[in-house]
Amino acid sequence: MSRSLLKALVSSLAVAMAGLIIAAPASAAGDPVRGKALGYTCLGCHGIDTYKNVYPTYSVPKLRGQHAEYLVAALKEYRDSERGHATMHAHASTLSDQDMQDVAAYLSGTEVKTAGGAPAGKVPAAVATCQACHGRDGVGIMGMYPSLSGQHADYLEHSLNDYRKGARKNAIMAPFATQLKPEEVQEVAEYFSRQKPALQTVPRNEKALTAAK
Ligand code: HEC
Ligand code: HEC
Repeated sequence: MSRSLLKALVSSLAVAMAGLIIAAPASAAGDPVRGKALGYTCLGCHGIDTYKNVYPTYSVPKLRGQHAEYLVAALKEYRDSERGHATMHAHASTLSDQDMQDVAAYLSGTEVKTAGGAPAGKVPAAVATCQACHGRDGVGIMGMYPSLSGQHADYLEHSLNDYRKGARKNAIMAPFATQLKPEEVQEVAEYFSRQKPALQTVPRNEKALTAAK
C-alpha cells in the first residue's frame, strides 16, 4: 500500500475505531490498591529503569503513565500468545481478567496527558502517519492506542521490528510498521522516546496507596 493511501485511510480508521469504543460497554475501573499487591513481582523488571531483556537485548518497557486499557490488552495478548514472550506469557497466564484490570490501574498510575507543546527535536517525515493514533507528541489519543512518549527507544524499535516480522501480531499496527523503511524504524523510535510528557519506570518504593480511583 502506498504511503499516501495509508495516510488517507488513517483518519477514517481512527474515527471508526473511536466509534467502536464508545459503543462498547464501559469496563469497570481497576482497583490500584489490590493491583499493587498483585504487581509486586512485576517490579523486579518493570521497577528498574536500566533493566534489559536478554537474547535479544532491549530495555524492559516503561509502564507508569501508560493507558491502563492498553496494559490490559497487552496482558491478554501475552496470555493468548498473540504476542510472544515466555516470561510475560507465564505472568499473564496467572492473572484473571479482574487481576489484569487491577494491576494495570496500579502500574499506570496517573496516565500521561498531552501537553500540546511543540515536538522535541526534528520531526521525521515518517511520523506524520503515526500521529492520528499516537498523538503529535506520542500520547495515545485513546486508551487502546499506547503512549510512546518517553518510552525507551530500543524497546520501541524492537516492537516495530516485531510487527514487521509478524512476531507481534496486530492487524492495526502491522501495515504501519511494514511501510517504514528500515532506517526510519530507528528514527521514529528515537523521535517518540524524546517526547514529553514522558512515560516512567514504576517506582519500587512507592508510598502505600490509599484510595481507589
Ligand atoms: C523477568 C522480567 C519481567 C517481569 C518479572 C515482568 N515483566 Fe512485563 N515485560 C518484560 C519484558 C522484557 C517485556 C517486553 C516483551 C516484549 O518484547 O513483548 C514486558 C512487557 C510488558 C507489558 C507490555 C508493555 C507494552 O508497552 O506493550 C506489560 C503490560 C507488562 N509487561 C506487564 C507486566 C506485569 C503486570 C508483570 C507482573 C505480573 C510483569 N510485566 C512482569 C519483562 C518482565
Ligand atoms: C490507526 C491507529 C494507529 C496508527 C496510525 C499507528 N499505530 Fe502504532 N499502535 C496502534 C495500536 C492499536 C497499537 C497496539 C497494538 C498491539 O496491541 O500490539 C499500537 C502499538 C504501537 C507500538 C508498540 C507500543 C508498545 O508499548 O509496545 C509502537 C512502537 C507503535 N505503535 C508505533 C507506531 C508508529 C511508529 C506508527 C507510524 C509509522 C504507528 N504506530 C501508527 C495504533 C496505531
